[in-house]
Amino acid sequence: MLSNEVIEELGLPKYFIDTYNLTEMVTFWPIFVQVFKQVPHQIICEVGANLGYTSKLLEEYCVDNERTLVIVDPLLSEPVKELEYAQLHEKTSLDFFSDGGKADIYILDGDHNYSTVKMELDSIKFANGLDGMVCLLHDVGWPWARRDIYYNPNENYIRDYSYNKSLHLETNGFSDRGFPNGTTYAMADEYGGACNGVQTAIDDFLKSNSGLKYYKFPSLYGLGILISENLITEELNQFLNNIMILGPMLGILEANRLRLIQGLHEHQIDLTKNIFKVNELEKQIKKKEEEDRLVREKLLISNAETSILEELSARQLKNDNEINRLLEESKFRSKRIDELIEDDSLKNMEILNLTEINGSLVSQIDRIKSSFLGRLLLRIIR
Ligand SMILES: C[S@@+](CC[C@H](N)C(=O)[O-])C[C@H]1O[C@@H](n2cnc3c(N)ncnc32)[C@H](O)[C@@H]1O
Repeated sequence: MLSNEVIEELGLPKYFIDTYNLTEMVTFWPIFVQVFKQVPHQIICEVGANLGYTSKLLEEYCVDNERTLVIVDPLLSEPVKELEYAQLHEKTSLDFFSDGGKADIYILDGDHNYSTVKMELDSIKFANGLDGMVCLLHDVGWPWARRDIYYNPNENYIRDYSYNKSLHLETNGFSDRGFPNGTTYAMADEYGGACNGVQTAIDDFLKSNSGLKYYKFPSLYGLGILISENLITEELNQFLNNIMILGPMLGILEANRLRLIQGLHEHQIDLTKNIFKVNELEKQIKKKEEEDRLVREKLLISNAETSILEELSARQLKNDNEINRLLEESKFRSKRIDELIEDDSLKNMEILNLTEINGSLVSQIDRIKSSFLGRLLLRIIR
């Protein structure tokens, strides 16, 4: 939301809509007011109301000035249905005019294609006469000046069309980056040529009819004012001509606005693509991580298996050695036992040895004793 300072410094009116892509006709309100002041009227007809931003202000004006507001739209939105004082016609402009619909001032912002706009102008001429025409038309600038759109292509199909394509400031063809268009309506595949677009319909109407004046302002997708010459007061003419003086500046502002909208949309497309790429990469990373985890798990299992096998074989070796040693010892003992059993003389030998050992012990004791007497004598002599 804009700060109060910005609103104040820019002198923004209460009907300003703070959005990236302004498409509502209410933005032309100061021009509407001058036309309403100068042209005698009782009924104002808005063809194409969408969310009712313009309708609300028109209703306020009509209530304050005791005028009648007629709204024509085949698909009335909730905010429009909630309007208290407007006469609502939920139908196409073709049906409205066929049913004898009539007004003094027309705000034409419905289905922006050649045949519809041409039909609307012809119907108004038929209803009001060439001296009673006051039409404020939207989208007479780029991109719908020379390219049809179709809200209901089955009804008024003329050209080949596409949905969800991008228009581009640098080219007349569609592009994969540029303006977001064609989500709720179809667009003619071709740009320009005969019977294509809103401005072409106005041009053809003006060519075949006289006594009319046309003013065109290149701002906010373009506003066209088509008015019977006899209804133009000097004051209104001067007012509209003065705005026309600002035409080049308004065109520059519009080009800059369109450039920013296109740039913004292109960045959004890039951002969406990058987000998609990042998501894909994240998925791949997760897959790789999972694969990696499984490989590591397998490696751990095989490492554990290796160390268990190593330990087992070490133990096996130790056991084998111990078994061999015990076997050797047991062999040795059993051999010794066999020898003792078989050789009785060996026992005698052992006894003899013991006697011998005893004998040597006695002589050792004797030696120790005599050495003790000798040491005692020496002491006495000394
Ligand atoms: C660009 S919007 C109108 C915006 C509106 N005038 C504003 O200033 O906010 C176009 C509207 O025209 C309506 N529309 C489409 N085809 C139509 C037709 N054949 N006759 C009348 N209105 C039509 C659509 O339903 C849509 O609400």
